[in-house]
Amino acid sequence: MSKTIGPGPDPNLIYPMQPYDKLVFLKNFVKASNIHIGDYTYFDDGRYGPEYFEQYNVLYNYDFSKVKLVIGKFCAIAAETKFVMTGDHKLDAISTYPFPIFQQGWETVYDVANLPVKGDIIIGNDVWLGYDSLIKNGVTIGDGAIIATRSVVVKDVPPYAIVAGNPAKVVKLRFDESTIKRLLNIAWWNWDIQKINNHLPLICSLDVDGLEQVSEHT
Ligand SMILES: CC(C)(COP(=O)(O)OP(=O)(O)OC[C@H]1O[C@@H](n2cnc3c(N)ncnc32)[C@H](O)[C@@H]1OP(=O)(O)O)[C@@H](O)C(=O)NCCC(=O)NCCS
Repeated sequence: MSKTIGPGPDPNLIYPMQPYDKLVFLKNFVKASNIHIGDYTYFDDGRYGPEYFEQYNVLYNYDFSKVKLVIGKFCAIAAETKFVMTGDHKLDAISTYPFPIFQQGWETVYDVANLPVKGDIIIGNDVWLGYDSLIKNGVTIGDGAIIATRSVVVKDVPPYAIVAGNPAKVVKLRFDESTIKRLLNIAWWNWDIQKINNHLPLICSLDVDGLEQVSEHT
């Protein structure tokens, strides 16, 4: 008989790794209505403290911007990761200087709410964002991807890709294309936590056949 695993940490805890208080389950922590974080996704910031996530790590998240930050379940976010929500200046003009933000009559020249922005930041499940990576607005990162340390991500990242550099480029895929399709079909992160616990050794192995089997039959 296989040994029982779990229950694992309560996803509703803020600090799930007591007594270490530099790591938080982020969904219990963020307040902004345009930031959505899935269960078990954590942010670890030993230097400043994860409490500053919305202030230091989600940049240019202005009230007038309609950009969302959506992060799936079971993601690992290292310290200094930055999400650049807006902040692009006007490009279709002689000057990029943002006159209207100072008001005093300059606000009439154009509406800052119409400044260029490429779209939401959408991050899948089981994504690992390495130390000091930067994600620009308009980017979608697929399930299972890895963002290498100090990457600057300006284009979409396919599922289970490892990207690195500035601008971040795919350096390799973690699995071959057909295995990636199978893993996306399994989508273990959507299982209930009991099923995840029951099959954690498989999730933490390279036995895709085994995971596929339990996915279909349990
Ligand atoms: C991406 C990472 C996981 C490496 O994975 P790996 O499978 O061992 O890959 P390799 O080291 O073989 O590197 C693959 C290629 O990517 C390059 N690469 C790896 N990390 C890179 C980085 N941060 N920036 C630029 N290039 C990088 C390597 O030079 C190599 O290039 P080559 O194929 O031209 O030789 C690792 O480099 C990384 O960034 N880890 C994140 C660590 C971290 O931030 N931890 C914080 C606490 S969670």
